[in-house]
Amino acid sequence: MMNFNRNRRMRANQSIRDLVRETTLTTNDFVLPIFVMEGSGKKEPISSMPGVYRYSLDLLKNEIKDLYSYGIKAVNIYVKVSDHLKDNTGKEAWNPNGLMQDTLKMIKDTEPGMITMPDVALDPYSIYGHDGIIENGQVLNDPTVEALVKMSLSHAEAGADFVAPSDMMDGRVVAIREAFEEHGHHNVGIVSYAAKYASAFYGPFRSALDSAPVENANIPKDKKTYQMDFANSREAIREVLDDVDEGADIIMIKPGLPNLDIIAKVRELITQPIAVYQVSGEYAMIKAAAQNGWLENDKVILESLHSIKRAGADLIFTYFAKEAAQLLNK
Ligand code: PBG
Repeated sequence: MMNFNRNRRMRANQSIRDLVRETTLTTNDFVLPIFVMEGSGKKEPISSMPGVYRYSLDLLKNEIKDLYSYGIKAVNIYVKVSDHLKDNTGKEAWNPNGLMQDTLKMIKDTEPGMITMPDVALDPYSIYGHDGIIENGQVLNDPTVEALVKMSLSHAEAGADFVAPSDMMDGRVVAIREAFEEHGHHNVGIVSYAAKYASAFYGPFRSALDSAPVENANIPKDKKTYQMDFANSREAIREVLDDVDEGADIIMIKPGLPNLDIIAKVRELITQPIAVYQVSGEYAMIKAAAQNGWLENDKVILESLHSIKRAGADLIFTYFAKEAAQLLNK
């Protein structure tokens, strides 16, 4: 059958394209993951993530002001823990004077409007590089949840706006929520990594924090007993619905580009905000290709972020946040 459709009419020039554009990206969409280290005057490059640095607290202070001035309103925080503080219990994670707790206080002191989302998981604190406590070659669920509750409470006490459990233990959202309610932290929220896949795209991040599972025949060599199989989709829905039930305020799907189908499905099912993490490996791929002159850096950054937003993300955790903010503010 014949028709007169000319879809190109709506693409004829930039003005009409702007008028019919369906997805708008702004700095309000971004959460920047940041890496913090001990010491002072330190800004160390992370070799697998060109343009990303680990900061000591004094230098991070200026960076926080800078980020806020670009319109970035939230940071997701990771600390590099010295080896002598690591063990199998993760107890340094709830040290009231630990590096994370000091970072939270500094950020709220420096820029009260900056929303803090500290990572909650034991891997940076674990001698084994796992997100939980290990016994007899297993990553234990319930004892790990108890540790995560202590960690979360100490973040709330240090002034966190949200906690971001990234560990994938069962039942930790409700346990953290209950502890927050009991201790009067009614307004501290939970960004739950609900559908987090066991992904090789986390490689560069693990070298940034020196937090990869260590090689030892007696411990699991990967995180597949708690992070999800990347071949599964219905399982992601179940994880998301469980975390919503348990009281998560924001639901995380991770990694980003490999999981656009999951983002779109979850968008249809829940009303809570969805956060998507464009992870270290996604960042590294784009940067490596751009450095070789194989891809156009700025265009690929914006395209990748738009497609994550278009799939259904409300928030995007991305190492490109500052660079993208500069591009969008141009
Ligand atoms: C740790 C954690 C990881 C990431 C965020 N939190 C690594 C992992 O699960 O092994 C990955 C982030 C990235 O790759 O950018 N619980």
